[in-house]
Amino acid sequence: MESSTVASKAAATPPPGAKPGSRAQVELSTIYEISKILSSSLDIERTFRNSLNTLIALMVYRRGMIVLADEEGGLKLASSIGLTPEEQIQGRYRPGEGVIGQVFVSGSPIVLPNIAHEPRFLNRTGALDEDPDRPIGFVAVPIQSNRRTLGVLTIDRASGPAGGFREDLRLLTMIANLLGQALLLHQGVSAERKQLLDETRRLKGELKGRYSIQNAVGASKLMQEVFSEVHQVGPSRSTVLLRGESGTGKEVVARAIHELSPRNGGPFVKVNCAALTETLLESELFGHEKGAFTGASGERRGRFELANGGTLFLDEIGDISPAFQAKLLRVLQEREIERVGGSRPIKIDVRLIFATNRDLERMVAAGTFRGDLYYRINVVSISLPPLRERREDIPPLVAHFLERFNKENHRELRVSAGAMRVLYNCYWPGNVRELENCVERTATMTKGSVIEELDFPCYSDRCLTRMLHVGVEPAQARADECAPPVESKIALPASRRQGASAGEPSRPESFVRAGDEKPEGERERLVWAMERSGWVQAKAARLLNITARQMGYALQKHGIEVRKF
Ligand SMILES: Nc1ncnc2c1ncn2[C@@H]1O[C@H](COP(=O)(O)OP(=O)(O)OP(=O)(O)O)[C@@H](O)[C@H]1O
Ligand SMILES: [Mg+2]
Repeated sequence: MESSTVASKAAATPPPGAKPGSRAQVELSTIYEISKILSSSLDIERTFRNSLNTLIALMVYRRGMIVLADEEGGLKLASSIGLTPEEQIQGRYRPGEGVIGQVFVSGSPIVLPNIAHEPRFLNRTGALDEDPDRPIGFVAVPIQSNRRTLGVLTIDRASGPAGGFREDLRLLTMIANLLGQALLLHQGVSAERKQLLDETRRLKGELKGRYSIQNAVGASKLMQEVFSEVHQVGPSRSTVLLRGESGTGKEVVARAIHELSPRNGGPFVKVNCAALTETLLESELFGHEKGAFTGASGERRGRFELANGGTLFLDEIGDISPAFQAKLLRVLQEREIERVGGSRPIKIDVRLIFATNRDLERMVAAGTFRGDLYYRINVVSISLPPLRERREDIPPLVAHFLERFNKENHRELRVSAGAMRVLYNCYWPGNVRELENCVERTATMTKGSVIEELDFPCYSDRCLTRMLHVGVEPAQARADECAPPVESKIALPASRRQGASAGEPSRPESFVRAGDEKPEGERERLVWAMERSGWVQAKAARLLNITARQMGYALQKHGIEVRKF
């Protein structure tokens, strides 16, 4: 939004053929000057401001405005002369609203000889307030190009007895046409420039053979595929379903998709569906009206409304109840919500990203997840591979986390080759989150300047990682031979502890199992669930559809120890 003071009249040179001093001569000079300004540069903000400046100065109008359609479908003040900064802020209109909105919608000009007598005149920018005793006239003409209305040009001036509005209308229509042409040219050039920039970015990516996304490390082939999918889907409006074990980076990817989309100026709102009861989730997502339930003392906007114009990330979508699945399906179909306790539908403009580490297909087959909802959310699906399947990402991830730690703590810690081998060979059931925590915790506890094997709390006599690697070159160690890294908790199935005490490197049965199928035996299922959920008991319980209390009891019963370090 721009404002400026009145320009000097001296710039106007009388064109040949017009009677000096006549209105026709001044009009011709005005058009001539404005056409020169508009063709001098592609900086539309500057040329529009200077054009309006010249118009107001040469024609001795009181004030002027150029209002243009914005990307959200509203009308916004692009340039103004004679308005205070407070009045400029008010210069927003909806199509159809007031005189300006009507000119925009109808594409026809409006002339008001005296705005004080005109109920349609909103006086939003204070045109009436300056001189209440003198009649003020107002002229608004559409700025058009290719029969499309792009905005509105307005002036207001003292309304004399001689009128003169017919001439004003003719002059402003000509100038609005010039503005329309300039705007069209500018839009064409901007679109071409954007296309060229996109193409350059894409070609650069192809040349390097690598993609990158914000805050994410991933040079492995598997992650490069993920990043390329993210780049492809980001700019579209598509609903995305992110799949992958806990800690693989689903939220990182969801944020990157939002950042790559045209909505990146809007909000990114996240909701963890597993963390709330059905009733709480409903009011959290849809909001509520005053008095909707006990304690609802005021109205509250839900996350859907808060995410309007941006992205809503619904995490752990596989954990919502059947009743809530039905409600969500209705919202996705109708693209509108109703607040709890309300009856008024509210339109929503939100891009949706879902995430889960549940086997939704199996849930659909078992009837615990609605098939129709599954098809709505599974439009574009991106799977994040577990860290153990892309071990080449471990060293750069360790370097990334250590660099951050060093910066934050003013240290210069390094990792020894041996320590890196330990990290490289861990199983990482909690994936990148677990690696991140492990690096941070070890870095904090390390006294010297180099992190060594023995600095890992898990690398002790009791440690399965160590035992499994006795006599085995870490480089040869197979992924499934590695122990779960010990973070703040460790869970060792009894069979592994027994193998350990016998001094033999044993291969825990749950690790050698291929694929992701839920195993048969109760004990195996418990270990399977704990591994898949990064040894977080509550998450594992959800995976098995049992309560956290039942989970605790079952772990105890089978001697699966969850020990705090
Ligand atoms: N590729 C990556 N590069 C750098 N950091 C990463 C990467 N992937 C994940 N992280 C980090 O690991 C942690 C876990 O990531 P995130 O929260 O995105 O995982 P998630 O899949 O959503 O996990 P959950 O299912 O438990 O919610 C975060 O701190 C994140 O910054
Ligand atoms: Mg997450």
